Amino acid sequence: CGIVGYIGTRLAVPVLLEGLKKLEYRGYDSAGIAVIEDGELVLNRSVGKLHMLEGKINGDAHQGHVGIGHTRWATHGRPSDRNSHPHTDCTGKIAVVHNGIIENFLELKEWLEENGHVFQSETDTEVLPHLVEHFHQGDLLRAVEQMVSKVRGSYATVVLSEDHPGTLVAARKDNPLIVGLGEGEYFFASDIPAIINYTRKIMVLEDGEIAVLTAEGVKVYKNGSPVEKEIQLITWDTKAAEKGGYPHFMIKEINEQPRALRDILTGRIAPDFSGVDLQEVSLTAEQIKNIRKIAVVACGTAYHAGIVGKYVMEKMLRIPVEVDIASEFRYRNPLIDAHTLTVIISQSGETADTLAALKEAKARGSRVVAITNVVGSSIAREAHDVVYTWAGPEIAVASTKAYITQLLGIYLLTLFLGKELGRIPAGEMTDILHHLYQLPKQAQDILDHLNEQLNKMAEIFNQWEDTFFVGRGLDYAVALEGSLKLKEISYVHAEAYAAGELKHGTLALIVKDVPVLALCTQPDVFEKTVSNIKEIKAREAHVIGVAFEGNKEIGKSVDEVIYIPETLPLLAPVLTVIPLQMLAYYASVHRGCDVDQPRNLAKSVTVE
Ligand code: G6P
Repeated sequence: CGIVGYIGTRLAVPVLLEGLKKLEYRGYDSAGIAVIEDGELVLNRSVGKLHMLEGKINGDAHQGHVGIGHTRWATHGRPSDRNSHPHTDCTGKIAVVHNGIIENFLELKEWLEENGHVFQSETDTEVLPHLVEHFHQGDLLRAVEQMVSKVRGSYATVVLSEDHPGTLVAARKDNPLIVGLGEGEYFFASDIPAIINYTRKIMVLEDGEIAVLTAEGVKVYKNGSPVEKEIQLITWDTKAAEKGGYPHFMIKEINEQPRALRDILTGRIAPDFSGVDLQEVSLTAEQIKNIRKIAVVACGTAYHAGIVGKYVMEKMLRIPVEVDIASEFRYRNPLIDAHTLTVIISQSGETADTLAALKEAKARGSRVVAITNVVGSSIAREAHDVVYTWAGPEIAVASTKAYITQLLGIYLLTLFLGKELGRIPAGEMTDILHHLYQLPKQAQDILDHLNEQLNKMAEIFNQWEDTFFVGRGLDYAVALEGSLKLKEISYVHAEAYAAGELKHGTLALIVKDVPVLALCTQPDVFEKTVSNIKEIKAREAHVIGVAFEGNKEIGKSVDEVIYIPETLPLLAPVLTVIPLQMLAYYASVHRGCDVDQPRNLAKSVTVE
């Protein structure tokens, strides 16, 4: 989602619309603005692209000089006028825009309803204006502080109130928000492009900070005390600003993965780590007990997430799992019935073959759970239940943050089903959840520490047009995704092989110095994989191992090692895929390819 706030001498509406337009590249499903005009808060919202909102307000005389605006990428509640931001309180005097997820919104909503508040939307955000209304006793800053103290989750939020027509108050936690400082005018924005045409001087708000804007300037507070903020000068051009200063969307999205992991876990792990909370899945205990088979269906990267799913679900649920490419599933008269649970995975929720497979499964009486990133997409609407991945808009054609959150969707669904079936002992559940909880931080460690090494390592693909990815079990599933990443953006031919299968044909292609990526995170097959590496080394290939930190053994068998932080072997794919994405990215850059829009490929394939 995108946020803009303005206070100054210009008319606010054109500034807000201009800012929102600059955020359009993020894709969105609805937009809205609120301004103070003649002392009154005026709200305009519309589902659809920004021009729908512009059409709605066209011709109205807008005189206000203070306002907030928002573009929405739906999380809670489908795209609609009513679910669009800004949201207001009961009096219609307080308006709030928000990016992020309010974890405890149901609890807060209940409490507010008991206190007489009436809600208009299905969003989590709407609790925010009601909380401000509840706590407001003449001091807006104080009310926002109290609002924040009640809320769990992530937020970048800006509050506008009719009772304080010359003030905007904003708060942030785990979601970006900046202040723009112009000449006698000030801005809030979620992203730099929204304000770059007005000012290049910014302050970046940190977690826990609350900022107050007036026409006189900005004051920032933390825990009730003022804080000194550094002013930064933005030197990026508009294009670079859209990419958050990164040269490509793909590397920006790779770097967003810790945040994406945090978001998908938000509110879904019980505070005592005893289980997962998937309120969105309405399968009854009876229906779960009747599952005899799970059919996972998807295309491309999502299909690779499905293969991880097979290993994970079969191991934990002891239910047979079939994974199909959607275009194959449709035409092979699949053995699906009312005892099958079909899991459909799709970033866009619009892939034609995947959608058709979903309909096929439903027609055969199967219950369907979709794991998708786009609220209100065709797949989300057709499925019985949806687990949203909340990765945010993904722009690069090569999928990264969507894949990693699809993996998390699979783990969460598996743990949910496993608990219902009584197949996961309490101790094991707690252990897995604790490790899941660590993943965002560990993903950040990889980004922080391996960047240089991987950039350098990727130079090998300046000389080689062929490469191989090998692994066993879950490592094989990730090898498939690693090889696809490299192929699609750097045009290096890459084959993924189950390490034990290599000798049945592909070993003939292993020659001196050819690069081979060998994933070795699964302890139960570690020695077997090492034997396969020895077969590869005997042909003098250049082997790069991927292993958990502290695995000294691997160093003896390979030429180089990419070490990743240790987690449970079951969760390894979430971390091992990151260096493979980075390797593919740097290979593409070194080879001068079009990273974000590789030849012949499309982000969303709506033809069969
Ligand atoms: C296209 C994209 C891939 C994606 C696949 C499935 O081929 O280029 O990155 O994995 O479609 O898309 P979906 O939106 O269904 O996940």
